[in-house]
Amino acid sequence: MTEMNPTQRGFTAVSPSNIAFLKYWGKRDVTNQWPANDSISMTLSACKTTTTARRSGNNFDSFTLDGVTINSNANKDHKIFRHLNRVRSTLNMSGNLDIVSQNSFPSSCGIASSASGFSALTLACVAALYQTTTWEDFASFGASRDKLAHLSRLGSGSAGRSMFGGYVKWTAGHSPDKQTISQLWTETHWDLADVIVVLSPGAKEIPSSEAHAAAWGSRLFGPRLAGIDMRAKLLQEAIKNKDVELLGREIESEALEMHAICMTGAPQITYITETTSSFLSWLRTERARGDIQAWATIDAGPNIHLVCKKEHAQKTAEHVKANWKDAQIILDSTGPGPYITTTQGDAQHV
Ligand code: PMV
Repeated sequence: MTEMNPTQRGFTAVSPSNIAFLKYWGKRDVTNQWPANDSISMTLSACKTTTTARRSGNNFDSFTLDGVTINSNANKDHKIFRHLNRVRSTLNMSGNLDIVSQNSFPSSCGIASSASGFSALTLACVAALYQTTTWEDFASFGASRDKLAHLSRLGSGSAGRSMFGGYVKWTAGHSPDKQTISQLWTETHWDLADVIVVLSPGAKEIPSSEAHAAAWGSRLFGPRLAGIDMRAKLLQEAIKNKDVELLGREIESEALEMHAICMTGAPQITYITETTSSFLSWLRTERARGDIQAWATIDAGPNIHLVCKKEHAQKTAEHVKANWKDAQIILDSTGPGPYITTTQGDAQHV
């Protein structure tokens, strides 16, 4: 049985999710989590995972997500426990942990819960193993932010980008060890809104790992990769110049391209639903009429992220709600990176 050890100090990491404007899709090397292409994302603010880790009195690890507990005795091959082992062995640390985690948003439906989840897990574990919350201490033990971003990426690719605030680029490089993850602009450069339209909150049936592999079977995948550098250049130009129309056009066609690859891959995978499709047609009509100034992107799920200027967020959300009564709306925007506190309350943004 799992015995929590309340006498041990808890270390809490709060990590944001991120929305990719240029999505990482397809892996060249699964073991080293080497992506087929560079990706660019915006770190969010409201969608986040809060994870507390404390040293355990048991000789196994436990992990509780939204009230459901698993432990490493019964589930040793679970991706969470494999990640814990990876963190400990990379940093040459030992000690079992009890971990409790909670998302501020629905999990596994295309709002990148694995991005915030694995970055929060990595940070909370490192803090509990080192018994400190400061970035300087982490670095002095050999766990720089860069190293932790790459460790998080090994748990879930997009999690590496959640280690930074603002606008973040993950470059693939020419070999797995040449990958980089870095901040392009801070969150203060451009405060954009992400009006998340949850059309279907249920967890997706096909994990993204399967779809990453299926992408190589699509004849559309080669042309996508051939155009990636141009797409990245245009996106960076749009963010640099705060050009929301250019950004919008690029993110919307990029997302449709990714979903076309899903639908023509081997095997064929369809994440978008009829409702997603109807929503996209409606969005185009409303935009042409001038009633909405927002553009869609869609992760590996049926739900839609509407990206727009901050001053248009409220009106966009109200217009969506008036027309899509069953949709749940989450108002989000550009956010800072993760931070860590202890149960005693000392906090530091990292
Ligand atoms: O992080 P993963 O392996 O679950 O892949 C998800 C990839 C997308 O979210 C669809 C795109 C991205 O770059 O975040």
